[in-house]
Amino acid sequence: MQQKKLWGGRFSESTDEFVEEFTESVSFDMELALYDIKGSMAHATMLARQGIIPKEDGEKIVSGLRDIENEILNGRFIWKRELEDVHMNIEKALTDKIGPVGGKLHTGRSRNDQAVTAFRLYLKDNISHIVSLLESLMLSLLNKARNTVDYLMPSYTHLQRAQPIRVAHYFLAYLEMFSRDRDRFSDCFKRVDMLPLGSGASAGVDFPIDREFVASELGFSQVMRNSLDATSSRDFAVEFLSACAICMANMSRFSEDMIIYSSTEFSFVELPDKLTTGSSIMPQKKNPDVLELIRGKTGRVYGSLVSLLTTIKGLPLAYNRDLQEDKEPVFDAVRTLKGSLTGIRKVVDGLRIKDSITYKASGSFSLATDLANYLVEKGVPFREAHHTVGSLVGYLVSQNRDLESITLEELKKFSDLFYEDALNLLKPEVVADRRNSFGGTAKSQVLKQIEFWEGILKI
Ligand code: ARG
Repeated sequence: MQQKKLWGGRFSESTDEFVEEFTESVSFDMELALYDIKGSMAHATMLARQGIIPKEDGEKIVSGLRDIENEILNGRFIWKRELEDVHMNIEKALTDKIGPVGGKLHTGRSRNDQAVTAFRLYLKDNISHIVSLLESLMLSLLNKARNTVDYLMPSYTHLQRAQPIRVAHYFLAYLEMFSRDRDRFSDCFKRVDMLPLGSGASAGVDFPIDREFVASELGFSQVMRNSLDATSSRDFAVEFLSACAICMANMSRFSEDMIIYSSTEFSFVELPDKLTTGSSIMPQKKNPDVLELIRGKTGRVYGSLVSLLTTIKGLPLAYNRDLQEDKEPVFDAVRTLKGSLTGIRKVVDGLRIKDSITYKASGSFSLATDLANYLVEKGVPFREAHHTVGSLVGYLVSQNRDLESITLEELKKFSDLFYEDALNLLKPEVVADRRNSFGGTAKSQVLKQIEFWEGILKI
């Protein structure tokens, strides 16, 4: 006769050891413990308020749960694998503590609505934390931009020097990306912020429960309308993982930039010593391991997204045990994302911009477009101007010279429309400031962008 299982009534054989080990989730879903307790307290309070259980029983349950909460917080709670998951561990501990009355807690509730309620509470807390980490990162990028308005650097396309830009413009580009990440998380929050509890196992509950009360106790802004959907949908978690994956992609690109830019070959930036590591064999090395790991862990978060999408794709409605697989990818993504956001922010704060970055804003013919545009302003069709400057570049390349070394006489050989003022276009800051279209890199535009973000971030 099966004794120890809370659901053991109809079983005549005890569970195979293998099954216990294979099906347990407490080893990871104990992460939900405090959210499960919160959900149970609200449920018990509601049961008593509705007269479904006596008031004293409700009070006993809530105070028992509070004791368990303290035991967990103090690390004194003993988790038992044979009790399967976090929910049954806590329920069993409650009954052990307050006696059979603890068994009344599960009235009008199923683990299916209970588990997903705790999961949603966990995600709500973590999304709020992620949003605030993103906002600190945005602030760090804004500060970096404010300090680098007068530095120039090359922009790259195809990783070839393209056109000079202000360094601030570069940092503001990532500020834009991370602000969209923040918006994605805030938007996703709305769909996580819905109460599934009160849906029972799948079809609803046959007690006069008050779901609105539970929602307000737990801080959910809506009650889920359909019990099948409430117990078995995980699209909210997929959406969260997709926001995580996109945010990791953005962080990975920034990491890659910083890894390249800090190399001797580029020498644009220097990473702070405290955020780099040495090599056990090469004494000269200062390695950007934090950035490399963020780039590396991006794959892992993509994996979490694909894992959950795959878990749900063939599931018949409503709850299936497969859904227990929703938690680990999410927990892992939350840890990875929070760590990576902290790492990127520290790198941005500690980054030193080297003067050589400005020197490299010219060279490699990155000012050639501007010479072509000079001719366009004189009425030459763009394609023709492009061709003329192309031949000029070819001429200099064959002599192993830079564009900046050209003289007015030489320019005149290619087009008699070139005058003295064309030589001005060989200065990167002049060229950068000519790009003063909305969103461009001219100082006036960059200052406008900075002002915009100061307004948004309230500094
Ligand atoms: N640990 C389970 C989960 O995470 C709880 C729900 C189990 N429900 C059930 N009917 N076996 O999904």
